[in-house]
Amino acid sequence: MAGGERPIIVAIDGPAAAGKGTLARRVADALGLAYLDTGSLYRAVGLKVLEAGQDPDDADAAVSASKTLTVDDLARPGLRGEGVADAASRVSAIRAVREALLAFQRHFAHSPPNGLRGAVLDGRDIGTVVCPEACAKLFVTATTEERARRRHEELRARGEAPTFEAVLREMEARDARDAARAAAPLRSAEDAHVLDTSNMDVDSALRTALWVVRSRCVLDDTDPDGRDQ
Ligand code: CDP
Repeated sequence: MAGGERPIIVAIDGPAAAGKGTLARRVADALGLAYLDTGSLYRAVGLKVLEAGQDPDDADAAVSASKTLTVDDLARPGLRGEGVADAASRVSAIRAVREALLAFQRHFAHSPPNGLRGAVLDGRDIGTVVCPEACAKLFVTATTEERARRRHEELRARGEAPTFEAVLREMEARDARDAARAAAPLRSAEDAHVLDTSNMDVDSALRTALWVVRSRCVLDDTDPDGRDQ
């Protein structure tokens, strides 16, 4: 990014398995922006705590893990399991953990890697806490049953075999914890565009998201590579 220019920051928040990750990655690709899955930070902290045989509700253990996080921790294969998701949701309710991870997220948004002109961040509190200054905010959601169905399929495709009911219960518990916590609870920013993907395929969600970004952010091109249609 050329010096002095303000980066284009797109915030995508929402509950588990609403389609944020796929959408965020595709918006970033279409517009030539960097992408950060902020859930992977909390998952990496959760995984470290579990591997050390510690309790994810133990604030001292979780804060120490968050302070020793490296970029390599964000790409570890074990991150996507449901046990790790539960641990992530527990460590993420600890205010000091959130504070320890804030600077990394803000730095990524304001100084995107590889000189890119901006970044898309997905998570729970990007539009409300991490980057309230984002030029475009989307709150991506879907019915609990539809989200559980998607997560169940994703887990089965990876060889995990929980029942649909178990996935649904775990997701309801995690959503309730994420929304009820005092530190940066899951909620839509007032200026976010709410996108319900329950009956939408990925391409229609992408079209709507790109329309929101184009109407709210100053992009100096209309369609860099024709990839966003
Ligand atoms: O992929 P999925 O939506 O299931 O979860 P994730 O985005 O990987 O996030 C895992 C957990 O991290 C969530 O349940 C939240 O508790 C927490 N998280 C958070 O608190 N704030 C964020 N910005 C991102 C994730």
